[in-house]
Amino acid sequence: MTSLQKLLYTLCSGLSCVIIAEGVIHVFGYVGKYVKVPCPYGQGYESHEKYLCKNDCGDADVLIKTSDSNKTKYSIFDDKETRTVTTTISDLRSGDAGKYWCGVTKNGLDIYIEVKLTTEQDSCCDDVKKTQSHEGHAASLSCPYKSQYGKSLKYLCRGNQPSTCLQQAVITSYSPQNGRFTLTDDATSSFTVNISGLTVGDSGLYLCGVHRDTQPDVFSAVHLEVREWCCVESKNVSSPVGGRVTLECPYPPEHRRNRKFLCKGDQRRVCSDVTDGGRFRLHNESSSSFSVTVSELEAADAGTYWCGSDPGWSLGNYTRIRLSVDEINSAKPADTHLFVVIGFVAGLLLTLCVLFTVYKRKCCRVKGTEDGADMNELKAVDTRSITGTEDIYENNADAVKRLETNFSIQQSARHQADNDYVDEPDYENFSNEEELYCNQSYRHTSMK
Ligand SMILES: *[C@@H]1O[C@H](CO)[C@@H](O)[C@H](O)[C@H]1NC(C)=O
Ligand SMILES: *[C@@H]1O[C@H](CO)[C@@H](O)[C@H](O)[C@H]1NC(C)=O
Ligand SMILES: *[C@@H]1O[C@H](CO)[C@@H](O)[C@H](O)[C@H]1NC(C)=O
Ligand SMILES: *[C@@H]1O[C@H](CO)[C@@H](O)[C@H](O)[C@H]1NC(C)=O
Ligand SMILES: *[C@@H]1O[C@H](CO)[C@@H](O)[C@H](O)[C@H]1NC(C)=O
Repeated sequence: MTSLQKLLYTLCSGLSCVIIAEGVIHVFGYVGKYVKVPCPYGQGYESHEKYLCKNDCGDADVLIKTSDSNKTKYSIFDDKETRTVTTTISDLRSGDAGKYWCGVTKNGLDIYIEVKLTTEQDSCCDDVKKTQSHEGHAASLSCPYKSQYGKSLKYLCRGNQPSTCLQQAVITSYSPQNGRFTLTDDATSSFTVNISGLTVGDSGLYLCGVHRDTQPDVFSAVHLEVREWCCVESKNVSSPVGGRVTLECPYPPEHRRNRKFLCKGDQRRVCSDVTDGGRFRLHNESSSSFSVTVSELEAADAGTYWCGSDPGWSLGNYTRIRLSVDEINSAKPADTHLFVVIGFVAGLLLTLCVLFTVYKRKCCRVKGTEDGADMNELKAVDTRSITGTEDIYENNADAVKRLETNFSIQQSARHQADNDYVDEPDYENFSNEEELYCNQSYRHTSMK
């Protein structure tokens, strides 16, 4: 830590560089960041005014003086103990690059030191090497460099910002082991960073940095793609409740001898085997795929499934299937399942009504006249339900008679209904009278 810190505050930090050579101060900074321009001055000038100016240093070229208060872009600090006046230029732009002067005011000609500012975009690099690995495995990022930097500090950071790379390094050659990261430097042409226990979150761009004391650091970029361990293929399948669906599962050839299964769970690691030979039946196993048929689908069957061909889940091309089970009410009228439900309800009604009819026949004969009155009212109230047969009921007495004789037919209808109440033509013919019976019986009971 101390060695790294020390290094950051020598001439070149990761952020910027200041080099004084042959009387010229060379300053380097990244666009968007700031640079400090430290200008030393001689003994005896502590109380003199200092300033920074640009270009030819005319009056209009003075950017900031020690007598000014700090500005947004320029600030100045005169350290009289070290006899260094330091100007900070913030929010660097490419246009800030160029020639500056540090000036010390005195009688006669001022004292000047030339400053050369260079800037660079804070991003890297045009050339990006690509590396792939899988979740849970390791990756090895290779970072080549020029042989003259064999002894330099090497480091690796995430992202693509050279300016902050050294400060945010995940590993440096000063302490080459750090958690999942290991750095090995051959000290001649490249260093390698191994990352173990990869997660998908490790994916992204990394910068390999080589620190230089008298120039900006040099970088190369590596893009790491950590693939989810499986899921080379992901499928969506949907089917209605009560239906049946076949899930196709290709598997890697090296798993040929393994038991095949279907596993359910959001995460592959915590999924459970659902292949039971019952509703989840595995079949049609070939050398490269098998299928699982799920019958009598339930809403609870919806979810994520994994085609399993290895209980240890070793690396391989697996398939993830998202199964959605559609509720019955979203089914189309043509759907056979809807017919089954309608048929069932109709059958139930039919049975009930026939039972009521039996009741009516047994106990309501004595109330014959009341029946007649009721029938009148009924016809008015519910003409819709009897339209199909209304001509029969012109005369109430006839109607009652008719209904009674129908009872025998009714019984055979009930029989048919019990056996097969769907698509039965006779049943269709009875349905309207059926409602009449029901209403009538209901009225009798409520009248009592
Ligand atoms: C101006 O900014 C510098 C840092 O750039 C700081 O050290 C100094 O104290 C500031 N001066 C004033 C007067 O605020
Ligand atoms: C880094 O990974 C490479 C290849 O994966 C391996 O050969 C090498 O031994 C690893 N180095 C360390 C230090 O783990
Ligand atoms: C599958 O469904 C999920 C949402 O459940 C969706 O994000 C994904 O894009 C779908 N994939 C395909 C291939 O349709
Ligand atoms: C089994 O697979 C063959 C082709 O591989 C296919 O023609 C057949 O329909 C499949 N049988 C079942 C029950 O899925
Ligand atoms: C996955 O499938 C691809 C293409 O078929 C193949 O190149 C790759 O080696 C497979 N990976 C594994 C781990 O089986």
